Amino acid sequence: MEKYVLITGASSGIGKTTAIKLAQNGFRVFAGVRKEEDKIAVENENPNITGVFIDVTSQESIRNAFDEVKKVTDNLYALINNAGIAYAGAVECIPLESIQKQFDINVFGAIRVAQQFMPMLCSAKIVNISSMASFGLFPFISPYCASKRALDIFFNALMLECKNPELKVVSIKPGVIKTKIWEKSIDVNKRVMEGLPEKSVEKYRREFEYLVKNAEKNKDKGLEPEKVADLILKVLCLRNPKPSYTVGRDARAAEIFSKLPLCVTNFFTKYILKKRMD
Ligand SMILES: NC(=O)c1ccc[n+]([C@@H]2O[C@H](COP(=O)([O-])OP(=O)(O)OC[C@H]3O[C@@H](n4cnc5c(N)ncnc54)[C@H](OP(=O)(O)O)[C@@H]3O)[C@@H](O)[C@H]2O)c1
Repeated sequence: MEKYVLITGASSGIGKTTAIKLAQNGFRVFAGVRKEEDKIAVENENPNITGVFIDVTSQESIRNAFDEVKKVTDNLYALINNAGIAYAGAVECIPLESIQKQFDINVFGAIRVAQQFMPMLCSAKIVNISSMASFGLFPFISPYCASKRALDIFFNALMLECKNPELKVVSIKPGVIKTKIWEKSIDVNKRVMEGLPEKSVEKYRREFEYLVKNAEKNKDKGLEPEKVADLILKVLCLRNPKPSYTVGRDARAAEIFSKLPLCVTNFFTKYILKKRMD
């Protein structure tokens, strides 16, 4: 029997790499993209891949994607909620609009897709590409951390609430991965900063400069997206996968660190941030 998988955000990075990996391993992949050229590019990678247009912030686009998939199958073997973006900033001055956009893509987007495709997910695996940020230790990227934690909470609840024990939800929490997300986040957050009052920019100038330097470093120093794709393939092949996996030593360290009392993690987080900025 064919195993159909839908993955959002498959134009680049983890999503595209996973689409290719799954297609090479016999899965029939619906790869969510937003542009015609990305659809052509991802379909050219493997005949098992079909590009479908999905903007996770648009209910209409998700409904259209559902209709496209339904022409081929009534059953998905897996849904991979991967589409995402990263907003950064100090809570004191980040525009609420940016936090809303962050949640609209990373949280509500995944919920919209899951709700629409639920009739096809009776005994499926839902794999969410969360992040080590879900452990919530990172200042100045709290919109992103909060979005990933919220994603994990909503989907864990979905699994507990679901009457079908066959439906499995898995949260994958990668550390730093070498993808375009870092460059994109620099662009997005520079634009947000340009809109801030001069007083706010001045107050956090050093922290903002550190964030940009850190993102520039991460775009080259992270693990290859194949590491995440390999784990997703493994998870899809397991009968009873764990509800949560980390990828990379940084993510594992973040998980361990998050189990310490909050006053201890806060002390060390402040200390490490200060040291890195000096
Ligand atoms: N890279 C890391 O270090 C890292 C670490 C932990 C977790 N993650 C998570 O991994 C996931 C994939 O990110 P990536 O690192 O592979 O970055 P990426 O290469 O930038 O991929 C992000 C994907 O999300 C898509 N996307 C963005 N907004 C969308 C929307 N409104 N509707 C549908 N698709 C949308 C992008 O499509 P367009 O090309 O059309 O914009 C792109 O395909 C994200 O959820 C991210 O939070 C990444």
